[in-house]
Amino acid sequence: MKVIKCDNYDAVSQKASEIVIDQIKKKPNTVLGLATGSTPLKLYSNLVSAYEKKEISFKHILSYNLDEYIGIDRNHSQSYYQYMHQHLFSLVDMNEENIHIPNNDVTRIDEIAELYNKDLNKHQIDLQILGIGSNGHIGFNEPGTPLGNETFIVELDEQTRKDNKRFFKSLNEVPKYAITMGIKNIMRSKKIILMASGIEKADAIYQMINGRVTDELPASVLQLHPDVVVIVDQLAGSKL
Ligand code: PGA
Repeated sequence: MKVIKCDNYDAVSQKASEIVIDQIKKKPNTVLGLATGSTPLKLYSNLVSAYEKKEISFKHILSYNLDEYIGIDRNHSQSYYQYMHQHLFSLVDMNEENIHIPNNDVTRIDEIAELYNKDLNKHQIDLQILGIGSNGHIGFNEPGTPLGNETFIVELDEQTRKDNKRFFKSLNEVPKYAITMGIKNIMRSKKIILMASGIEKADAIYQMINGRVTDELPASVLQLHPDVVVIVDQLAGSKL
């Protein structure tokens, strides 16, 4: 793993956007793996700025999102479908048919993971963007998730629900389930960038880089991937 330590969140976002912009310039039909949460917000706004300056276009980009909540509708303000449209897709020239976000339709619960996985496996992600949970999850692969999993339905960890409570009115409203790419899907990506900011990520970042590879800290599996760039700010990298 290559580790880049930056001064602050803005510098982490700047570094990550340089890598993504470079990738899109080199390969306009890049297959991007996309993450949600607080961490990539500035990265997405940098990408929108690059698009507005006509540095890059999303016209031929294919995107696959890591995960989606189950138990809230796609139209809910906190769905990742809404997040992605609000912060990136509706602000650039992305083709709606090239956007893939896991379907969270509970009436089709038996088939949604398999269908997403089939679609995902038709391609290889060129560049996967990741955040990391304070418990070491990537996507919604919570501690204890088998490292060989492909897209599946997961019961969210209590820690994850508490961490994400800030986006909802109460803990009770935070969904208990989600659909997520599995570790195996993430590991198939050609290149991965993992971004982290803030002291609450410091332990997970330390364990991911220096701990043993274990399903107890799913991000540790990235030690086995040949092309991972970890971009951290001072606080997230403070234990390294
Ligand atoms: P965050 O979430 O960016 O909102 O901290 C990261 C994650 O859970 O992967």
